[in-house]
Amino acid sequence: MTLAEIRAQFPILSETVRGKPLVFLDSAASAQKPRVVIDAMVHAMEHQYANVHRGLHWMSERTTDAYEATRDSIARLLNANSREEIVFTNNSTGAINLVAHSYGRGVLKPGQAVLISAMEHHSNIVPWQMLRDSHGIELRVAPITDAGELDMAAFEALLADGKVGLVAITHMSNVLGTYTPAGRIAALAHEYGAKVLFDGSQAIVHRKIDVQALDADFYVFTGHKLYGPTGIGVLWARRELLEQMPPFLGGGDMIASVSFERSTWAEVPHKFEAGTPAILETIGLNAAIGFMESVGYDAIAAHEAALTDHALARLSTIEGLTVVGRAQDRGGVISFTMQGAHAHDVATLLDRQGIAVRAGQHCAEPLMRRLGLDSTARASFGIYTTQDEIDLLAGTLLRVREFFA
Ligand code: ALA
Repeated sequence: MTLAEIRAQFPILSETVRGKPLVFLDSAASAQKPRVVIDAMVHAMEHQYANVHRGLHWMSERTTDAYEATRDSIARLLNANSREEIVFTNNSTGAINLVAHSYGRGVLKPGQAVLISAMEHHSNIVPWQMLRDSHGIELRVAPITDAGELDMAAFEALLADGKVGLVAITHMSNVLGTYTPAGRIAALAHEYGAKVLFDGSQAIVHRKIDVQALDADFYVFTGHKLYGPTGIGVLWARRELLEQMPPFLGGGDMIASVSFERSTWAEVPHKFEAGTPAILETIGLNAAIGFMESVGYDAIAAHEAALTDHALARLSTIEGLTVVGRAQDRGGVISFTMQGAHAHDVATLLDRQGIAVRAGQHCAEPLMRRLGLDSTARASFGIYTTQDEIDLLAGTLLRVREFFA
């Protein structure tokens, strides 16, 4: 599929912003939706909708089939051992909270530690702090280097006493664009007796994820960054871990039987899916996965690498602009600062030209503190981003620089 063909599938890309073509460089916050996703959700609402797992009637059975087909697609996408290893959540945050509550309280023991890194999103910090405070778990933080890479020597040293029960690390930083060395992280974690969770919210958008090749124990991602709808996320976990874990939320659909004296749980993964789920969103996510697979991860990764190289080269020529993070293995999320200009002002001036970037702390306040910054502007690329858009960003940033200089 050519880039023009890909772009043609995203209706919003033909919108204008204040009379200028939309240049959407904020896909790391949430990606735009291709026609197939929109159509799948509309089709379900217009032709095939009822609650799932509950009705014996035709509509419920068809909707359940469409809903459950997403589980098969995700199992295939991640190379999971079985569809039962796929748990639907509302987003990555929901998935990490599920693990923190269920694995954290049900399997980890007080006195054990959870090891995160200094470049985590708040969603991979706060649930562990809550677990620390309620369950006597120690929270350890592996430092990063000035280049924005995980300090692997320090990471290993933090594992050395064998107290870490779980390592929870981003697979790609939403601020620095750094890909963490997931294979090495998993190998080290296992060597010291810990399980490992990867927050794949950003990584899965750009790279093929094979949870078995990574030797991961938990992998989480969210639908809305993967060109799918909001409100649907995924926890993949090894089945034996899911079996060990107590339920997190209680309610309908997650039970085998209920009496006032006691209840018993449904089999995994349903044990973790209480209440009416995000039916339409789950169906939409399946269409997004189909779309990603039709473009192909090799093409997606190559496109992103070319865009990132081009953007880094262009931005490096702008005097006073500093790209934050210089990781060797990095992708299409580029944070930067501009001398003499606050990130919010930079973003506002870019917005006047129709260019959407994010500015602020990017839900990673401790990372900002580590970097000695109060905020950055961030341009992030998607499957539909063009080199012309990056050139426009660079040209506009030059003018912004002149304005502030
Ligand atoms: N986690 C999202 C971001 O990085 C919202 O912008």
